[in-house]
Amino acid sequence: DLGNFDTYMLKEIFEQPQSLENCLRGRIDDDAASAKFGGLNVDVQDLRHVDRIVLTACGTSWHAALVGEYLIEEFARIPVEVEYASEFRYRNPPMTDRTMTFAITQSGETADTLAALRESRRKGHATMAICNVVGSTIAREADGGIYLHAGPEIGVASTKAFTSQVTSLMLLALYLGRMRHLSFPAGQRLIKQMRQLPQLVEKTLACNEAVAKIATKYFDRNNFLYLGRLYNFPVALEGALKLKEISYIHAEGYPAAEMKHGPIALVDEVTPSVFVVPHGTMYPKVMSNLEEVKARKGPVIAIACEGDKEISAAADDVIFVPDVEEYLQPIVTSIPLQLLAYHVAILRGCNVDRPRNLAKSVTVE
Ligand code: M6R
Repeated sequence: DLGNFDTYMLKEIFEQPQSLENCLRGRIDDDAASAKFGGLNVDVQDLRHVDRIVLTACGTSWHAALVGEYLIEEFARIPVEVEYASEFRYRNPPMTDRTMTFAITQSGETADTLAALRESRRKGHATMAICNVVGSTIAREADGGIYLHAGPEIGVASTKAFTSQVTSLMLLALYLGRMRHLSFPAGQRLIKQMRQLPQLVEKTLACNEAVAKIATKYFDRNNFLYLGRLYNFPVALEGALKLKEISYIHAEGYPAAEMKHGPIALVDEVTPSVFVVPHGTMYPKVMSNLEEVKARKGPVIAIACEGDKEISAAADDVIFVPDVEEYLQPIVTSIPLQLLAYHVAILRGCNVDRPRNLAKSVTVE
């Protein structure tokens, strides 16, 4: 049921305050200042001994895994490897006895992710699923896991599943962190901030009209660049993927500092660069990357924090998002990029829910 929306994609983008609420529900353990999961099926002692984590996935789920890597390494100090499922299934990376694998998937039916899960289990590693579709093949074959509770995602472009995957990985990082060096007050702080996510997403969605307007300026372009750093580097990749898959415009995402190693050669007067540049440790660095693009006359669209006074003078167009802790930024910065891809695709007359050549679940290798 589309309700007041014309497309599933837009409906699902706007469902994110609710889907995140559902993802967090019942998963916060205030007494322990930690997270709790009903379906992990592992003893605390075994989890305590995990010394390495592999996150394996495809597409947007792989981008969520990249955010997960930063979260888990920062909060739990466990080394994380992110693997494309299609590579992992045929590679033979050395894995310690205490390596735990998580297969991340919206559908739970992606052929490569399923094969990666089977390969990891065959080698005797505890293998979990972070999955949306209840009872899907991957959910059933995993040793345990975390359901996203995002509700059905119909649009081929993954939107609400992405933000729920990131939120689930945040909860996991908190949980694993609290078993290790993360203190009780530090856990409480994280919980307090995470609880605000649904409201923050609601506020972020208010940028929709501004994004729609910006889309009218750029929808006829042939190439886009997406740039961000640290937690916003995977967001840049995700923004570029979203645009490619539904508008058929060529787009590339990079860590902003990589520009000078090649991609800056693509900058010209018509190619827009989308800079994800919220406040934080990387702000001055990303701003200087942005200025390098401006100096070469490249149009710049910035995703920046409310209250940023410098950005309007530096960028051609700005989309403002709430100013949040750095580790929460992917949730709020990915939303304007979902909307940008959406509006550009609509203006180009594309079928956003069923883009050409793509299927919702990729059940072939
Ligand atoms: O169902 P999954 O999460 O396993 O799907 C993985 C990818 O096929 C999927 O994320 C794809 O990249 C999306 N269409 C992106 O929007």
